[in-house]
Amino acid sequence: MTDQNKDLTAISILPKHIGIIMDGNGRWAKLRGKRRIFGHEAGVIKAKEVVEQCVKMKLEVLTLYAFSSENWSRPRKEINGLMKLFERTIGKYTSLLIDNDVCFKPVGNLDMLPEVLKRKLEQMEAITSENSGLRLNLAIAYGARQDIVGAVKTIIDKLEKGELSKEEINEDLVSDHLSFNDVSDLDLIIRTSGETRLSNFMLWESAYSEIYFTETLWPSFEEQEFMEILQNYSKSERRFGSIKDQIDLKKA
Ligand code: FPP
Repeated sequence: MTDQNKDLTAISILPKHIGIIMDGNGRWAKLRGKRRIFGHEAGVIKAKEVVEQCVKMKLEVLTLYAFSSENWSRPRKEINGLMKLFERTIGKYTSLLIDNDVCFKPVGNLDMLPEVLKRKLEQMEAITSENSGLRLNLAIAYGARQDIVGAVKTIIDKLEKGELSKEEINEDLVSDHLSFNDVSDLDLIIRTSGETRLSNFMLWESAYSEIYFTETLWPSFEEQEFMEILQNYSKSERRFGSIKDQIDLKKA
């Protein structure tokens, strides 16, 4: 049995949907006396490793937060470097995603991205759309509040056109109008680099998520720590607002 398989046996309940806020690339590079883009490049390699681990574990959905709506306020030079890096990454890993049966979906305001990058993301989505393995969402130019505002506008449009009535508005209907409407809510969120906030990441879909914050900077995030987080998750009891006795009754 490989070490990884041994670790996996300790995980009795695997989350269905994991979201990762990959933070700390800049600090990782600075600690090594390098430019920030060097940290982002290392961050891409780490993302690739984590995707491969999720494929091995047969995880259903992984969402990576690559670029937030708020990241547009970074220096132009860093934004351009990141956009080029995303473009190269898509090109470089297309066959990896195909070979591993990964279904890729970019989520966010893609119209804000450079045309070439937008096209490559959409091509990758189309090429992998029939794949039935890991569903990999890349949140890029994404912000949860903006997504919710978009949903509210669409719902109002439908109300005005008489396609919907006020009585039909409920949580499911709002979920259906969000960008992540075809995957389950997040079970587990991991944020690296010691920051303890969600930074506009999937605010609606994280209502009942377990959240794990680690001091580790994203490029230094290792398989061992990932497995420990999953083992902890496996032990946690998600009550969704109920009390322990009710959960025990359901299990019996
Ligand atoms: C966070 O570090 C990283 C980003 C905002 C950039 C995007 C993420 C990557 C390049 C990794 C994976 C990408 C893909 C395409 C899967 P930071 O710059 O906020 O670091 P800092 O907080 O230390 O400054």
